[in-house]
Amino acid sequence: MKKLLIVYHSKTGNTRKMADAVLAGALREEEIETTFLHAFDAGPEHLMACDGLLIGTPENFGYMSGAIKDFFDRTYYEVLDHALNLPYAVFVSADNDGTGAVREIDRIMKGYPMRKVCEPLISRKGVSEEDIQKSEELGETLACGIAMGIF
Ligand SMILES: Cc1cc2nc3c(=O)[nH]c(=O)nc-3n(C[C@H](O)[C@H](O)[C@H](O)COP(=O)(O)O)c2cc1C
Repeated sequence: MKKLLIVYHSKTGNTRKMADAVLAGALREEEIETTFLHAFDAGPEHLMACDGLLIGTPENFGYMSGAIKDFFDRTYYEVLDHALNLPYAVFVSADNDGTGAVREIDRIMKGYPMRKVCEPLISRKGVSEEDIQKSEELGETLACGIAMGIF
């Protein structure tokens, strides 16, 4: 069975709400096994065992959160030789921006390398019902795409 990995960090709960909705969407695809991990609990072994990745972060100071950066720092060299080339997508909770976190994650992902397969989802000023719905759609899209071999 193919596997989807969701890695997230959240300080005050907004990204966690999105991550929970992303997970709910992914679980609609029964052909995929989904692993849901806080960034501090995720390591290279999880990347090497998955077929696709969803990254969720708050935007902090125009960047991803330190926990997500730490995840990348701890896994980059470890998986580099495996040329994973995984499909990935990003979701971000921000106050009024979010684009800095997306841009910098995309830069890092090129190095692994990984392939961006969906537009980023940015939620601003709290997580609305619409954001929850879009998060569910994002999770389901990644899971279905991987299951069907589209990504
Ligand atoms: C240290 C810090 C830095 C932040 N920097 C930004 C920023 O650069 N741009 C932005 O839009 N929001 C910024 N915010 C707001 C958070 O991104 C926003 O509150 C987000 O919803 C928090 O997500 P969380 O509840 O998952 O922790 C910052 C918040 C903190 C605590």
